[in-house]
Amino acid sequence: MDIFGKEYIDRVYRIIKGERFIHTDSLAENVGKDVWLRGWVYRIRSSSNYVFVILRDVNGIVQCIVTKNEVDRDTWERANGLYIESSFLVKGEVVKDERAPTGYEIHVKELYPVCVGEPFPISKDLSTEFLLDVRHLWVRSRRLTDIFKVRHYTLIYLREFFNKEGFFEIPPPIITKNACEGGSQVFQVDYFGEPAYLSESGQLYAEAFIYSHEKVYLYAPSFRAERSRTVRHLAEYWHLEPEAAWMFHDDNIRLQERMIEHVIRRLVENHGPLLEKLGRSPDSLKEIRAPFPRITYDEMVDVLNKKGLRFKWGDDPGADEEKALTQDYDVPLVIERYPRDTKAFYMKVDPDDERYVLNDDVLAPQGHGEIIGGSERIWDLEELIDSMKRFGLDPENPAYKWYVDLRRYGSVPHSGFGLGIERFLKWILNLDHIRDAIAFPRTINRVYP
Ligand code: 4AD
Ligand code: MG
Repeated sequence: MDIFGKEYIDRVYRIIKGERFIHTDSLAENVGKDVWLRGWVYRIRSSSNYVFVILRDVNGIVQCIVTKNEVDRDTWERANGLYIESSFLVKGEVVKDERAPTGYEIHVKELYPVCVGEPFPISKDLSTEFLLDVRHLWVRSRRLTDIFKVRHYTLIYLREFFNKEGFFEIPPPIITKNACEGGSQVFQVDYFGEPAYLSESGQLYAEAFIYSHEKVYLYAPSFRAERSRTVRHLAEYWHLEPEAAWMFHDDNIRLQERMIEHVIRRLVENHGPLLEKLGRSPDSLKEIRAPFPRITYDEMVDVLNKKGLRFKWGDDPGADEEKALTQDYDVPLVIERYPRDTKAFYMKVDPDDERYVLNDDVLAPQGHGEIIGGSERIWDLEELIDSMKRFGLDPENPAYKWYVDLRRYGSVPHSGFGLGIERFLKWILNLDHIRDAIAFPRTINRVYP
């Protein structure tokens, strides 16, 4: 007998369309009732008289028990034919049971595979590389499911914060002719026969909008062709970039602090159990309160040398330095006023000391690395042209000429910063590797799936 013939498929289709399904998070209010659930096989084991199928849906899991002498023969056969990750519908009574892994179980009356499929390629103890090869399937894992829930909420709270502060979201271009952060790490694309680049930061375009909307932010992917094989570098990452007119260096740092505090407070308030499940105690996050410790670049040089790292003035701190600086902190560390030549052409020089710029980097605690880079921007036309020349950029080049133009018409002091979303999540969730904060990581040795 064909238990999956055309008649069967029509029947399943009609059940999906016609029945009311509940999710695994509303079992408590349905105890004693017959309900329909739909989802995927998370685990399955069987004996001669029982099949135990754990159903997984977006909200969790529940064990469904199929008892041989309580269901018809077709149902029994179909239950026995399921694989891990087969999709299925199930109807049964919700029974409260202290011994069940989630407190409830389903005593199955009807069970219909939607797609039995093939044996799932992911089983236990597979290598990291293999799991990355099957990332399109591995994203169903409970851990990644939870991480992407936190990512979703994090974005909601970031947008909530900037909305509350009066910022407008602006969409930046992705294909561009400029290299905002310097040309050494841009991806080139063939733009109708002309070279163009994938944006490494939308900042210059955000700056164009401060003259109308005053406070804006961008949320878009940024691309870095960095040859670094580290736990914190992606070739494609998501970048949140606020920019505001009339904002000075100190206000910029305070904005960064308030933003971090807001997102963490909201995550802790609303998603404690989710954080807990991911191994991040909400209590440890609760302690993160601004203002954060703040040191200058020069103070950082001293701290590093006292810690025994040989770090020269004018160098850029790398992973080892960042780790040494932050391993004793539970809160982010702000480092400000870097030497001019270590940073970008658009940063405003410190009026009190020409060797430095009015910038800051925020380093996440416990060695998670830099999560924010920001600065006050040069707003005077001559100063910008001089700085561009110093950095080897031609102010007449059409890639930058428009940016220079912004200083010609109603220029004002302004500042902004960039937050790397995956770096931020890596810290908040204490992830070992940044790739788990993004769905389909692009790194130096991976562009699939
Ligand atoms: O420090 P960055 O290069 O600064 C800028 O791009 C500025 N234009 C931002 C601005 O002021 N609007 O990058 C900002 C942040 C870093 O602090 C880091 O969090 C993240 O972007 N980031 C990366 N994240 C993942 N992988 C990479 N390769 C990253 N490079 C930078
Ligand atoms: Mg930086």
